[in-house]
Amino acid sequence: MLADEHSTSLFKKAHGLTFWEMADKNDSFNQSINNAMVSDSNFLMDIILRECGDVFLGINSLIDVAGGHGGAASAIAKAFPQMKCTVLDLPHVVEEAPTDDHVSFISGDMFKYIPPADALFLKWVFHDWGDEDCVKILKKCKEAIPPREAGGKVIIVDMVVGSGPNEIVTRETQVFFDLFIMFLEGIEREEFEWKNIFMQAGFSEYKIISMLGVRSVIELYP
Ligand SMILES: C[S@@+](CC[C@H](N)C(=O)[O-])C[C@H]1O[C@@H](n2cnc3c(N)ncnc32)[C@H](O)[C@@H]1O
Repeated sequence: MLADEHSTSLFKKAHGLTFWEMADKNDSFNQSINNAMVSDSNFLMDIILRECGDVFLGINSLIDVAGGHGGAASAIAKAFPQMKCTVLDLPHVVEEAPTDDHVSFISGDMFKYIPPADALFLKWVFHDWGDEDCVKILKKCKEAIPPREAGGKVIIVDMVVGSGPNEIVTRETQVFFDLFIMFLEGIEREEFEWKNIFMQAGFSEYKIISMLGVRSVIELYP
């Protein structure tokens, strides 16, 4: 499921466990990550729903893959009450998840199985993983959604290096994230690198919407 013995993750070298294995073993570490991600969603989802809420139109069922404690899914479900929103995450995350009238939770491993839905949502997920793992996750995503003509799509919120305004603060943010994500063995990707993993996983088309500096929304079609 997780990084192999050839891992170059600094976190794994220091602790003998991957970041996600540590979250499984250490409850306060687990809580800190989940709380941090909900805070990030509380900040970002308002902006996404206001600036490009159209990407969610017409979706009847959505799974927030690796959605943590459902901060993003909850915001989407409140904005689109007819949509059935579900969060998929690892058992140690789902066990601690708060009750939410708008969102249901399923525990599972996205590398093994993603339940079917009209659309999948993945925020701050792909940048945690190398290309090979991303292609594995994307192939599972493709199996879970209907064809494009039937409304199938994947909505990704992540960093696209080089997108956004050409300002010093944007470049500084990129450098900061490059350093940050290396400790996990993740990658911040330029558009051509995103395209490469999308095409390897068998997707046909994508559209990048630059949102907040280098953070972007990507609509991906089978
Ligand atoms: C950076 S957090 C993003 C959480 C959420 N998407 C958000 O933006 O608030 C990455 C999430 O991936 C989850 N995760 C890691 N490995 C996973 C796996 N194999 N299957 C499902 N979820 C996984 C972690 O538990 C964590 O909640």
